[in-house]
Amino acid sequence: MKRSVRILFVITAMLLALASCAKQSMLSPDDTFDKETEEEQKSPEADTTEADETLKDTTNDDTTAAVPDDGKVHVGSITLDKYEISIKVGESDMPWVTMLPEEAADKSEIWKSSDESVAVVNHYGKITGVKVGECVVTVTSADNPDAEAQVKVKVIKVSEEPTYINGILIANKSYSLPSTYNPGIDPSAKAALDEMISAAAKDGITLYMISGFRSYSTQQTLYNNYVARDGQAAADRYSARPGHSEHQTGLAFDLNSLEQSFGETKEGKWLKDNCWKYGFIIRYPKNKENITGYMYEPWHVRYLGKDVAKSIYDSGLCLEEYLEITSVYAN
Ligand code: DAL
Ligand code: ZN
Repeated sequence: MKRSVRILFVITAMLLALASCAKQSMLSPDDTFDKETEEEQKSPEADTTEADETLKDTTNDDTTAAVPDDGKVHVGSITLDKYEISIKVGESDMPWVTMLPEEAADKSEIWKSSDESVAVVNHYGKITGVKVGECVVTVTSADNPDAEAQVKVKVIKVSEEPTYINGILIANKSYSLPSTYNPGIDPSAKAALDEMISAAAKDGITLYMISGFRSYSTQQTLYNNYVARDGQAAADRYSARPGHSEHQTGLAFDLNSLEQSFGETKEGKWLKDNCWKYGFIIRYPKNKENITGYMYEPWHVRYLGKDVAKSIYDSGLCLEEYLEITSVYAN
């Protein structure tokens, strides 16, 4: 038994030695294999990182389409036609959205207001003022949550009453009229205009009205058309925003021509020198744009009554200077 045990021991030892040799001889290739496997495993990871970075870069690229594995072109960024809006309570505005790249397959929008007690937004991006305050409305791509754009929303106060300062009804950039203020042409102002036109005719001067009372909605249409044509900054220099036009008071008239050269004509000069006698002032004189808020308008007269008109004419001041008030939009 002892002998057979010894033989078994020897055989086992030989087998173990063989196995050990075999293992030794396989170590290098195994190592190499492990390294290669590691590298092979790293490569796809690196590739994935590169792919991710490519996707990330593309996300911020306005023109290049991100084309991941699904073969679809995805939204990379969003631009808007405006990033700030100012609306009154109950009023709405809707920014124009462009999702890029153009060929993106899914341009669905997700809209969200940061404070729905200030402004709400519907699925189409129509933003409506709820109460006075500020919030941010965000549009996100349904296709790519990293692509978003934000609009700063200001909800401003609606004028409930017209403003009188020293008994004078004010409509300028600082003081607005309610949209419901709709008095039509003022009879006293119209009578004074007729008196002035007759007096001018006696001096050989032909004056005629080209614009008188304008409702809030008429002014809104006019102003929006000017903004569409010239842009808001330019339009704000010569056209009042709805609620801010003196024409809505029924006390203002545009005469003869809407060209600044009218001021150099004999009619324009007569108007400047004589309108006070009939209760009018040239409301937007030359070189007062920074005070009145509007460019020179030699054709626009405002009825104030004879006493106030004379006093302002004698002072050489414009209405804002005379009353020591501003004419600046709040937004
Ligand atoms: N052109 C004047 C400022 C107005 O629009 O009322
Ligand atoms: Zn005018």
